[in-house]
Amino acid sequence: VIRFDRGNTDAHLKGSDQRALFDRGAEALEAILARRGPGSEMLGWLDLPNIPEGELRRIEDAAKRIQDENDCLVVIGIGGSYLGARSAIEALPAEARFPVIFAGHNLSSDYHARLVESLEGRRYSLCVISKSGTTTEPAIAFRILGARLVESLGRSEASKHIVAITDPKEGALRRAAERDGYLTFYIPPDVGGRFSVLSPVGLVPCAAAGIPVRELIQGAAEAMDRYTRSGPENNAMQYAVRRAGLFGQGIAIEVLSTFNPELGTLCEWWKQLTGESEGKGGKGLFPASALMTTDLHSLGQYLQQGARDILETFLVADEPRRTVTIPGTGDDQDGLEYLAGRTMSDINGKAFEGTRSAHEAGGLPVMTIELPAVTPAAIGTLFVFFEIAVAVSGHMLGINPFDQPGVEEYKRRMFELLGKPGSER
Ligand code: PA5
Repeated sequence: VIRFDRGNTDAHLKGSDQRALFDRGAEALEAILARRGPGSEMLGWLDLPNIPEGELRRIEDAAKRIQDENDCLVVIGIGGSYLGARSAIEALPAEARFPVIFAGHNLSSDYHARLVESLEGRRYSLCVISKSGTTTEPAIAFRILGARLVESLGRSEASKHIVAITDPKEGALRRAAERDGYLTFYIPPDVGGRFSVLSPVGLVPCAAAGIPVRELIQGAAEAMDRYTRSGPENNAMQYAVRRAGLFGQGIAIEVLSTFNPELGTLCEWWKQLTGESEGKGGKGLFPASALMTTDLHSLGQYLQQGARDILETFLVADEPRRTVTIPGTGDDQDGLEYLAGRTMSDINGKAFEGTRSAHEAGGLPVMTIELPAVTPAAIGTLFVFFEIAVAVSGHMLGINPFDQPGVEEYKRRMFELLGKPGSER
């Protein structure tokens, strides 16, 4: 179970009618659960933790086969077809991990050239993930990496090394998968990319990496039960209502600050989830993140004394996986003998507490989300916590949290510049 501490946000919400705010939050949750309101046709993610046993087995079997037949797996995808899996894989212990490499999440020729070189002489499978099946970045990476696989293994053997995760019926990737006989998993049509981490989109790469996906799903299922109940003990609601309320009080930015660098990509996933869901109609908190204590030496100054339109949410884990103790030296030349015998996580914890109280004193509203430890179940819990929260706060802002019409504008201009047939104005 994760803990939520609302910090000093009540004081920062003084200008608003808090009772009305919480009522609006409760109404938003009720509407979501009753599948009403903007984007209600895209609420299939609420059911994802109830994954059928047969589907889970198929995912585990595919993962085992990938591990048995290869030296690594290349996962091709971008946005919601990429960040969830990567955030879980990077958050969880790397011991005995099967190597998973990511591609198709940028258009850097250097990145992809290096990746192709690094695959030289290695046995690999491709897991290509795209709900639409037409997104440019992963489609280009798949074209390059798929062609290399065919070159080295021949078409029919290469097809056995490709797993496609896409729409059940539509799109170019679905057509290619059917034509060439790839192993396929589908993304339910009523689940949007950034809400798809608990579907095969996140589960296949995680299982291939060696993450016990049943524990992750278990954490998510329990969280779905907990965070869909109305009432003040629902922490996802507490968080959501405060975010929406603070937006109404002139806060423009939310910084998710973590003292656990292994949660860095999870912060990226959160940025996509919140930014793409809420940034519409001139509304929404701009999501940023900070990796502490590293960023205390870059962003710390701004957080302490810069413009006061920031909400800071701390994301921390109590227990480290491994203990590092500060050695005694017998002398005190570096002035650190007072720390001898103490653990690094104890010091990190004090850095967190000191930072939180300093930023609070500097005038920022602060809240804290605390995990007992970074485990698969805790990561599953966090995914659901944030998904419910952003659905609720999005509804409270009066926008549709499940579409992303603004993303099309850069694509239209890019396609025009690239001379894509049919893209001319
Ligand atoms: O949340 C979303 O819907 C988007 O961020 C998509 O995940 C992203 O654009 C990738 O789309 P697709 O899976 O269709 O390739």
